[in-house]
Amino acid sequence: MDKKVFIKTFGCQMNVYDSNRIFETVNKIGYNKTEKYEEADCYILNTCHIRDKAKEKVYHEIGRLKKSFKFKKKPIVVVTGCVAQAENKEMLSREPYIDIVIGPQSYHKINEIIKSYAYQKKKEEITDFDTIEKFNYLSKIKNNNSNISSFLTIQEGCDKFCSFCVVPYTRGPEYSRPFEQIIKEAKELIKNGTKEIILLGQNVNAYYYLDKKRIFRLSDIIMELEKLSDLKRIRYTTSHPKDMTEDLINCYKNSKKLMTLVHLPVQTGSNNILKLMNRKHKIEDYFSIYKKLKKINKNIKFSSDFIVGYPGETDQDFNDTLNLINNIEFINSYSFIFSSRPGTKAANLKLIDEKVTGERLKIIQSKLFESQIKRNKSLEGKEIEVLVENQMKDRFKLFGRTKCMTSVIFEGEKKNIGNIVKVKINGSNQNSLFGKIKLNQDKKVA
Ligand code: SAM
Ligand code: SF4
Ligand code: F3S
Repeated sequence: MDKKVFIKTFGCQMNVYDSNRIFETVNKIGYNKTEKYEEADCYILNTCHIRDKAKEKVYHEIGRLKKSFKFKKKPIVVVTGCVAQAENKEMLSREPYIDIVIGPQSYHKINEIIKSYAYQKKKEEITDFDTIEKFNYLSKIKNNNSNISSFLTIQEGCDKFCSFCVVPYTRGPEYSRPFEQIIKEAKELIKNGTKEIILLGQNVNAYYYLDKKRIFRLSDIIMELEKLSDLKRIRYTTSHPKDMTEDLINCYKNSKKLMTLVHLPVQTGSNNILKLMNRKHKIEDYFSIYKKLKKINKNIKFSSDFIVGYPGETDQDFNDTLNLINNIEFINSYSFIFSSRPGTKAANLKLIDEKVTGERLKIIQSKLFESQIKRNKSLEGKEIEVLVENQMKDRFKLFGRTKCMTSVIFEGEKKNIGNIVKVKINGSNQNSLFGKIKLNQDKKVA
């Protein structure tokens, strides 16, 4: 029988990568992908726990699912991801419609559990941290992703324990995949047509793998990927300022394929708050990285994540963040109001007045958006290099990204998908650039 699986994904890029790997795994036991959840025999909800209401969102989704299947045979309902890890057994008792709960480091067991559930109807919860086995198992299943831009997890988990963050609890301790395993998977992706690889890790630049007395770092992966001729672009995310080592900084000198956007979350511009957050870096360190990279290539741009309203944040602390934004031009950045997460060090701290945090978010976002709009506007009239990723749904336009990850929507022929082309920009808004492919590009831009 043709069985169908529907996977809904919340959260970060790693969850997107995981959902693809989960699909390739369940495909081995006969599940084909469906985009229509109503026809699913197996419904997988891959969840995120990073901010407030994550848990409620999951129960809400299950409630909707229940309604749709009221008069039909119920699918096997599987909850994966960071809420699964954090809530574990409780999910099965709170919502009997859920059949299986699997944490992020136990995905290699998913087929066994689904098969056993289908046979015995025994509900199961697995939230062990079996990261080594997981990657060993998954590395034997071919990564069939054929996107032009593909994610590749090289490192998982976190040992930094920032006081606001659930990740060390939901993803477990830092683990770096073996170097050869990563390169093999990269080659599979490139063979499938991938032209850009985005190396992933919760602390991607903490990557550290020791093999026969040789130490491999993120810089080694970048320089190895550099050699693969069909690969055009390399990116990595998310990095931590503390692990921006010289070898990685030097990659911006030595690699032609490493893109010029550095996503380096700073969270706040105040040293007091950085300390309270247990971030393990100071603003001076951040500036020093910024200066070193700008010295190598002035076209390098920075993007960041900001948290406003961390408990104890004074007007002065907030002004320090605004000053930082005045001094460093951040593009494509994210800002969030502090969200108290159960189990973290900051969980029980006294919250700042909601009105104040709301106001601060508005101020920071208007600053970030303003500089984003200004930057995009400054590109109007210019020709820029774009890696063409796909055709827009309307089928008239193409979609691609600049070196700095900005979306570009433009007129051009489908045959350009997978190529780096020059696009003449004739319009822009906060998030995107618009334009037309430059005709007669006799030579593809490498
Ligand atoms: N590892 C990355 C780093 O060191 O910055 C961050 C990973 S986290 C998935 C992505 C972003 O979510 C963080 O950079 C932070 O800005 C935000 N975040 C994490 N926990 C948060 C919380 N409790 N409240 C608000 N934002 C949070
Ligand atoms: Fe969370 Fe901090 Fe680890 Fe990033 S470095 S994942 S913010 S604990
Ligand atoms: Fe969310 Fe887990 Fe990613 S909490 S942001 S899915 S690591």
